Amino acid sequence: MEKLSVAKQKFEKILLEQLGRIERMKSDNAPTDYRSLESIIIGIVGGDGIGPVITEQAKRLMEFLLKDEIAAGTVVLRVIEGLTIENRAAVAKAIPDDVLAELMKCHVILKGPTTTPEAGSPWPNIESANVAMRKELDLFANVRPVRAPEQGIDWTFFRENTEGAYAVGSKGFEVDENLAVDFTIATTQGTERIVRAAFEYAKANNKTRVTAVTKANVIKTTDGKFLRICRAIAKEYPGISFDEWYIDIMTAKLIDPKRRKGFQVLVLPNLYGDILTDEAAEFQGGVGTAGSANIGRKYAMFEAIHGSAPRMVKEGREDYADPSSIMRAAAMLMSHIGFERQSERLNRALDDCMKERAIEITGRPLGASVYEWTEYVMKKL
Ligand code: IPM
Ligand code: MG
Repeated sequence: MEKLSVAKQKFEKILLEQLGRIERMKSDNAPTDYRSLESIIIGIVGGDGIGPVITEQAKRLMEFLLKDEIAAGTVVLRVIEGLTIENRAAVAKAIPDDVLAELMKCHVILKGPTTTPEAGSPWPNIESANVAMRKELDLFANVRPVRAPEQGIDWTFFRENTEGAYAVGSKGFEVDENLAVDFTIATTQGTERIVRAAFEYAKANNKTRVTAVTKANVIKTTDGKFLRICRAIAKEYPGISFDEWYIDIMTAKLIDPKRRKGFQVLVLPNLYGDILTDEAAEFQGGVGTAGSANIGRKYAMFEAIHGSAPRMVKEGREDYADPSSIMRAAAMLMSHIGFERQSERLNRALDDCMKERAIEITGRPLGASVYEWTEYVMKKL
Protein backbone atom coordinates (compact mmCIF):
# COMPACT_ATOMS: atom_id res chain seq x y z
CA MET A 1 0.00 0.00 0.00
CA GLU A 2 1.33 3.38 -1.06
CA LYS A 3 0.33 5.11 2.19
CA LEU A 4 2.17 2.55 4.28
CA SER A 5 5.39 2.99 2.41
CA VAL A 6 5.09 6.78 2.72
CA ALA A 7 4.52 6.36 6.47
CA LYS A 8 7.47 3.99 6.77
CA GLN A 9 9.71 6.48 5.00
CA LYS A 10 8.64 9.26 7.35
CA PHE A 11 9.20 7.03 10.35
CA GLU A 12 12.61 6.00 9.10
CA LYS A 13 13.61 9.65 8.69
CA ILE A 14 12.61 10.39 12.29
CA LEU A 15 14.59 7.43 13.59
CA LEU A 16 17.67 8.41 11.60
CA GLU A 17 17.50 11.96 12.98
CA GLN A 18 17.26 10.67 16.53
CA LEU A 19 20.12 8.22 16.05
CA GLY A 20 22.20 11.15 14.80
CA ARG A 21 21.21 13.14 17.87
CA ILE A 22 22.41 10.33 20.10
CA GLU A 23 25.84 10.41 18.44
CA ARG A 24 26.00 14.17 19.03
CA MET A 25 25.04 13.74 22.68
CA LYS A 26 27.78 11.14 23.11
CA SER A 27 30.39 13.67 22.04
CA ASP A 28 29.04 16.52 24.16
CA ASN A 29 31.62 18.96 25.42
CA ALA A 30 32.22 20.32 28.89
CA PRO A 31 29.80 23.02 30.05
CA THR A 32 30.61 26.67 29.32
CA ASP A 33 32.79 28.21 32.01
CA TYR A 34 31.47 31.77 32.21
CA ARG A 35 34.32 32.91 34.45
CA SER A 36 36.82 32.16 31.69
CA LEU A 37 35.04 34.44 29.20
CA GLU A 38 36.38 37.92 28.59
CA SER A 39 32.91 39.17 27.97
CA ILE A 40 29.58 37.43 28.58
CA ILE A 41 27.05 38.21 25.87
CA ILE A 42 23.44 38.17 27.06
CA GLY A 43 20.99 38.08 24.16
CA ILE A 44 17.64 39.76 24.85
CA VAL A 45 14.73 38.56 22.74
CA GLY A 46 11.38 40.31 23.13
CA GLY A 47 9.14 37.78 21.41
CA ASP A 48 5.45 38.35 20.65
CA GLY A 49 2.39 39.80 22.33
CA ILE A 50 3.19 41.14 25.79
CA GLY A 51 6.77 39.84 25.36
CA PRO A 52 8.56 43.03 24.22
CA VAL A 53 6.97 45.15 26.97
CA ILE A 54 7.80 42.84 29.88
CA THR A 55 11.24 41.86 28.53
CA GLU A 56 12.25 45.52 28.24
CA GLN A 57 11.51 45.96 31.95
CA ALA A 58 13.57 42.91 32.91
CA LYS A 59 16.39 44.36 30.80
CA ARG A 60 16.15 47.65 32.72
CA LEU A 61 16.65 45.78 35.98
CA MET A 62 19.66 43.90 34.63
CA GLU A 63 21.16 47.14 33.31
CA PHE A 64 20.87 48.54 36.80
CA LEU A 65 22.17 45.49 38.66
CA LEU A 66 25.05 44.83 36.25
CA LYS A 67 25.94 48.43 35.48
CA ASP A 68 29.59 48.10 36.56
CA GLU A 69 30.12 44.97 34.47
CA ILE A 70 28.37 46.53 31.48
CA ALA A 71 30.51 49.67 31.82
CA ALA A 72 33.65 47.52 32.00
CA GLY A 73 32.55 45.49 28.99
CA THR A 74 32.63 42.17 30.82
CA VAL A 75 28.88 41.87 30.27
CA VAL A 76 27.12 42.87 27.07
CA LEU A 77 23.33 43.09 26.78
CA ARG A 78 22.51 42.55 23.12
CA VAL A 79 18.96 43.01 21.85
CA ILE A 80 18.10 40.53 19.11
CA GLU A 81 15.18 41.50 16.91
CA GLY A 82 13.13 39.38 14.61
CA LEU A 83 11.81 36.46 16.63
CA THR A 84 8.22 37.47 15.93
CA ILE A 85 5.33 35.38 14.71
CA GLU A 86 5.10 37.54 11.56
CA ASN A 87 8.74 36.87 10.63
CA ARG A 88 8.51 33.23 11.54
CA ALA A 89 5.36 32.78 9.49
CA ALA A 90 6.92 34.62 6.52
CA VAL A 91 9.82 32.17 6.30
CA ALA A 92 7.76 29.22 7.64
CA LYS A 93 10.39 28.48 10.27
CA ALA A 94 10.19 28.26 14.03
CA ILE A 95 13.32 30.41 14.25
CA PRO A 96 14.42 32.36 11.14
CA ASP A 97 18.02 31.48 10.14
CA ASP A 98 19.39 34.98 10.70
CA VAL A 99 17.88 35.12 14.19
CA LEU A 100 19.28 31.70 15.07
CA ALA A 101 22.74 32.79 13.87
CA GLU A 102 22.54 35.84 16.16
CA LEU A 103 21.36 33.74 19.11
CA MET A 104 24.30 31.41 18.63
CA LYS A 105 26.69 34.32 19.06
CA CYS A 106 25.38 34.87 22.59
CA HIS A 107 26.32 32.89 25.69
CA VAL A 108 22.97 33.14 27.43
CA ILE A 109 19.57 34.39 26.34
CA LEU A 110 16.68 36.12 28.06
CA LYS A 111 13.58 35.41 26.03
CA GLY A 112 10.09 36.85 26.18
CA PRO A 113 7.13 34.62 25.31
CA THR A 114 6.56 33.74 21.67
CA THR A 115 3.25 32.84 20.06
CA THR A 116 2.85 29.18 19.17
CA PRO A 117 0.44 28.63 16.30
CA GLU A 118 -2.07 25.96 17.08
CA ALA A 119 -3.90 23.75 14.62
CA GLY A 120 -6.70 25.76 13.00
CA SER A 121 -5.13 29.19 13.65
CA PRO A 122 -4.47 31.57 10.74
CA TRP A 123 -0.70 31.08 11.11
CA PRO A 124 1.11 28.29 9.25
CA ASN A 125 1.79 25.16 11.25
CA ILE A 126 5.28 26.10 12.43
CA GLU A 127 6.85 24.61 15.50
CA SER A 128 6.89 26.57 18.75
CA ALA A 129 9.91 28.90 18.91
CA ASN A 130 10.51 27.78 22.51
CA VAL A 131 10.59 24.15 21.59
CA ALA A 132 12.77 24.85 18.53
CA MET A 133 15.24 26.90 20.57
CA ARG A 134 15.48 24.18 23.19
CA LYS A 135 16.29 21.70 20.45
CA GLU A 136 18.59 23.88 18.32
CA LEU A 137 20.67 24.96 21.30
CA ASP A 138 20.28 21.56 23.00
CA LEU A 139 18.87 23.06 26.19
CA PHE A 140 18.06 19.76 27.79
CA ALA A 141 17.23 20.77 31.36
CA ASN A 142 14.17 22.89 32.01
CA VAL A 143 14.64 23.96 35.60
CA ARG A 144 11.56 25.47 37.22
CA PRO A 145 11.65 26.45 40.88
CA VAL A 146 8.40 27.04 42.77
CA ARG A 147 8.50 28.56 46.24
CA ALA A 148 5.67 29.43 48.61
CA PRO A 149 7.41 29.53 52.00
CA GLU A 150 4.24 30.26 53.96
CA GLN A 151 2.81 26.98 52.67
CA GLY A 152 6.04 25.06 53.19
CA ILE A 153 6.53 24.70 49.42
CA ASP A 154 10.05 24.63 48.02
CA TRP A 155 10.13 22.59 44.84
CA THR A 156 12.56 22.46 41.94
CA PHE A 157 11.38 20.73 38.82
CA PHE A 158 13.83 19.23 36.34
CA ARG A 159 11.77 18.79 33.22
CA GLU A 160 13.45 16.94 30.34
CA ASN A 161 13.39 19.47 27.55
CA THR A 162 14.46 17.90 24.27
CA GLU A 163 12.79 14.49 24.10
CA GLY A 164 9.52 12.81 25.06
CA ALA A 165 6.41 13.86 23.19
CA TYR A 166 8.11 17.11 22.14
CA ALA A 167 11.10 15.63 20.33
CA VAL A 168 9.18 14.88 17.19
CA GLY A 169 6.05 16.80 18.11
CA SER A 170 5.82 18.67 14.82
CA LYS A 171 6.65 15.57 12.78
CA GLY A 172 3.62 13.49 13.47
CA PHE A 173 1.56 12.74 10.39
CA GLU A 174 -1.79 11.56 9.14
CA VAL A 175 -1.34 8.15 7.58
CA ASP A 176 -4.70 8.56 5.89
CA GLU A 177 -7.89 10.47 6.62
CA ASN A 178 -8.65 8.22 9.58
CA LEU A 179 -5.30 7.63 11.23
CA ALA A 180 -3.12 10.28 12.85
CA VAL A 181 0.18 9.45 14.57
CA ASP A 182 2.47 11.32 16.92
CA PHE A 183 5.59 10.00 18.59
CA THR A 184 7.30 10.06 21.92
CA ILE A 185 10.91 9.07 22.42
CA ALA A 186 13.44 8.50 25.20
CA THR A 187 17.16 8.00 24.74
CA THR A 188 19.68 6.69 27.24
CA GLN A 189 21.93 9.74 26.83
CA GLY A 190 19.05 12.23 26.98
CA THR A 191 17.58 10.65 30.09
CA GLU A 192 20.88 10.20 31.91
CA ARG A 193 21.84 13.84 31.53
CA ILE A 194 18.56 15.23 32.95
CA VAL A 195 18.43 12.74 35.81
CA ARG A 196 22.04 13.43 36.70
CA ALA A 197 21.38 17.17 36.58
CA ALA A 198 18.54 16.72 39.09
CA PHE A 199 20.64 14.65 41.49
CA GLU A 200 23.65 16.96 41.17
CA TYR A 201 21.42 19.93 41.94
CA ALA A 202 20.01 18.10 44.97
CA LYS A 203 23.51 17.30 46.20
CA ALA A 204 24.84 20.83 45.70
CA ASN A 205 21.84 22.39 47.44
CA ASN A 206 21.56 20.04 50.43
CA LYS A 207 18.30 18.54 49.23
CA THR A 208 17.53 15.11 50.60
CA ARG A 209 14.92 13.83 48.19
CA VAL A 210 14.52 13.37 44.43
CA THR A 211 11.17 12.24 43.03
CA ALA A 212 10.63 10.79 39.56
CA VAL A 213 7.26 11.33 37.90
CA THR A 214 6.28 9.14 34.94
CA LYS A 215 3.44 7.04 33.62
CA ALA A 216 5.60 3.96 33.31
CA ASN A 217 2.69 1.65 34.06
CA VAL A 218 1.13 2.57 30.72
CA ILE A 219 3.80 4.23 28.58
CA LYS A 220 5.98 1.25 29.27
CA THR A 221 8.82 1.57 26.81
CA THR A 222 9.86 5.21 26.96
CA ASP A 223 8.71 6.09 30.49
CA GLY A 224 9.90 2.65 31.57
CA LYS A 225 13.36 3.52 30.32
CA PHE A 226 13.25 6.92 32.03
CA LEU A 227 12.34 5.30 35.34
CA ARG A 228 14.96 2.54 35.05
CA ILE A 229 17.65 5.14 34.49
CA CYS A 230 16.39 7.16 37.48
CA ARG A 231 16.63 4.11 39.72
CA ALA A 232 20.15 3.29 38.53
CA ILE A 233 21.46 6.84 38.98
CA ALA A 234 19.74 7.15 42.40
CA LYS A 235 22.03 4.37 43.65
CA GLU A 236 25.02 6.64 43.04
CA TYR A 237 23.63 9.17 45.55
CA PRO A 238 23.29 7.35 48.85
CA GLY A 239 22.58 10.54 50.84
CA ILE A 240 19.52 11.36 48.74
CA SER A 241 16.30 9.40 49.00
CA PHE A 242 14.55 8.52 45.76
CA ASP A 243 10.85 7.85 45.20
CA GLU A 244 8.64 7.38 42.15
CA TRP A 245 5.13 8.53 41.34
CA TYR A 246 2.78 8.36 38.40
CA ILE A 247 1.78 11.67 36.89
CA ASP A 248 -1.95 11.27 37.54
CA ILE A 249 -1.65 10.76 41.29
CA MET A 250 1.11 13.37 41.45
CA THR A 251 -1.25 16.05 40.09
CA ALA A 252 -3.59 15.07 42.94
CA LYS A 253 -0.91 15.01 45.64
CA LEU A 254 0.28 18.50 44.75
CA ILE A 255 -3.00 19.81 46.15
CA ASP A 256 -2.80 17.67 49.28
CA PRO A 257 -1.35 20.14 51.83
CA LYS A 258 0.28 17.41 53.93
CA ARG A 259 1.88 15.42 51.13
CA ARG A 260 3.04 18.27 48.94
CA LYS A 261 5.33 19.78 51.56
CA GLY A 262 7.67 16.83 51.37
CA PHE A 263 8.61 17.10 47.70
CA GLN A 264 11.93 18.76 46.96
CA VAL A 265 13.48 17.99 43.58
CA LEU A 266 11.31 16.41 40.91
CA VAL A 267 12.54 14.94 37.63
CA LEU A 268 10.18 14.15 34.81
CA PRO A 269 9.76 13.63 31.06
CA ASN A 270 8.93 16.63 28.92
CA LEU A 271 5.12 16.63 28.67
CA TYR A 272 4.47 15.74 32.32
CA GLY A 273 6.92 18.46 33.28
CA ASP A 274 5.06 20.95 31.13
CA ILE A 275 1.74 20.16 32.78
CA LEU A 276 2.88 19.73 36.37
CA THR A 277 4.92 22.95 36.45
CA ASP A 278 1.88 25.03 35.48
CA GLU A 279 -0.09 23.43 38.31
CA ALA A 280 2.82 23.92 40.70
CA ALA A 281 3.29 27.59 39.78
CA GLU A 282 -0.30 28.24 40.80
CA PHE A 283 0.70 27.80 44.48
CA GLN A 284 3.07 30.75 44.34
CA GLY A 285 0.67 33.03 42.53
CA GLY A 286 0.26 31.61 39.03
CA VAL A 287 2.31 31.12 35.90
CA GLY A 288 2.88 34.88 35.73
CA THR A 289 5.19 34.60 38.73
CA ALA A 290 7.47 31.71 37.81
CA GLY A 291 10.74 31.89 35.91
CA SER A 292 12.11 29.07 33.83
CA ALA A 293 15.69 28.12 32.98
CA ASN A 294 16.56 26.07 29.91
CA ILE A 295 20.06 24.81 30.39
CA GLY A 296 22.37 22.99 28.02
CA ARG A 297 26.10 22.34 28.03
CA LYS A 298 27.00 25.24 25.78
CA TYR A 299 24.01 27.60 25.90
CA ALA A 300 21.31 28.55 28.37
CA MET A 301 18.05 30.39 27.85
CA PHE A 302 15.83 31.96 30.51
CA GLU A 303 12.21 32.75 29.92
CA ALA A 304 8.84 33.54 31.41
CA ILE A 305 6.86 30.38 31.98
CA HIS A 306 3.68 31.87 30.49
CA GLY A 307 2.60 32.61 26.91
CA SER A 308 2.42 35.81 24.87
CA ALA A 309 -1.15 36.69 25.94
CA PRO A 310 -2.39 37.86 22.51
CA ARG A 311 -5.77 38.65 24.02
CA MET A 312 -4.23 41.29 26.30
CA VAL A 313 -2.61 42.94 23.29
CA LYS A 314 -5.82 42.80 21.28
CA GLU A 315 -7.62 44.56 24.09
CA GLY A 316 -4.80 47.11 24.44
CA ARG A 317 -3.78 45.92 27.90
CA GLU A 318 -0.13 44.94 27.31
CA ASP A 319 1.10 47.77 29.53
CA TYR A 320 -0.66 46.07 32.43
CA ALA A 321 0.91 42.65 31.97
CA ASP A 322 2.70 41.06 34.91
CA PRO A 323 6.48 41.13 34.29
CA SER A 324 7.32 39.08 37.41
CA SER A 325 7.95 35.84 35.55
CA ILE A 326 10.50 37.32 33.12
CA MET A 327 12.09 39.18 36.06
CA ARG A 328 12.49 35.87 37.92
CA ALA A 329 13.98 34.49 34.72
CA ALA A 330 16.47 37.38 34.67
CA ALA A 331 17.41 36.54 38.27
CA MET A 332 18.00 32.92 37.31
CA LEU A 333 20.11 34.05 34.35
CA MET A 334 22.34 36.23 36.52
CA SER A 335 22.83 33.40 39.01
CA HIS A 336 23.68 30.99 36.19
CA ILE A 337 26.48 33.18 34.86
CA GLY A 338 28.01 33.81 38.28
CA PHE A 339 26.27 36.96 39.53
CA GLU A 340 24.74 35.30 42.56
CA ARG A 341 24.59 38.49 44.63
CA GLN A 342 22.71 40.46 41.98
CA SER A 343 20.37 37.55 41.44
CA GLU A 344 19.55 37.38 45.13
CA ARG A 345 18.98 41.12 45.27
CA LEU A 346 16.44 40.89 42.48
CA ASN A 347 14.69 37.85 43.96
CA ARG A 348 14.50 39.50 47.35
CA ALA A 349 13.08 42.70 45.87
CA LEU A 350 10.44 40.69 44.02
CA ASP A 351 9.60 38.75 47.19
CA ASP A 352 9.24 42.03 49.09
CA CYS A 353 6.96 43.56 46.48
CA MET A 354 4.79 40.46 46.32
CA LYS A 355 4.47 40.34 50.08
CA GLU A 356 3.89 44.03 50.67
CA ARG A 357 1.69 44.60 47.61
CA ALA A 358 1.68 48.37 47.93
CA ILE A 359 0.65 48.28 44.29
CA GLU A 360 -0.95 45.38 42.52
CA ILE A 361 -0.70 44.09 38.96
CA THR A 362 -4.11 42.89 37.85
CA GLY A 363 -3.66 42.73 34.08
CA ARG A 364 -6.13 45.62 33.71
CA PRO A 365 -5.84 49.42 33.74
CA LEU A 366 -7.24 49.62 37.26
CA GLY A 367 -4.12 47.83 38.49
CA ALA A 368 -0.52 49.01 38.31
CA SER A 369 1.19 49.26 34.94
CA VAL A 370 4.28 47.26 34.09
CA TYR A 371 6.33 50.50 34.38
CA GLU A 372 4.95 51.34 37.82
CA TRP A 373 5.67 47.78 38.94
CA THR A 374 9.26 48.00 37.68
CA GLU A 375 9.77 51.28 39.57
CA TYR A 376 8.43 49.57 42.67
CA VAL A 377 10.87 46.66 42.26
CA MET A 378 13.74 49.10 41.58
CA LYS A 379 13.06 50.90 44.86
CA LYS A 380 13.35 47.61 46.76
CA LEU A 381 16.64 46.60 45.14
C1 IPM B 1 6.26 25.98 28.46
C2 IPM B 1 5.24 26.27 27.40
C3 IPM B 1 5.70 25.68 26.07
C4 IPM B 1 5.85 24.21 26.25
C5 IPM B 1 4.76 26.01 24.89
C6 IPM B 1 4.59 27.48 24.71
C7 IPM B 1 5.19 25.36 23.62
O1 IPM B 1 4.00 25.77 27.77
O2 IPM B 1 7.39 26.46 28.34
O3 IPM B 1 5.93 25.27 29.41
O4 IPM B 1 4.90 23.46 26.04
O5 IPM B 1 6.94 23.77 26.60
MG1 MG C 1 3.93 24.92 29.68
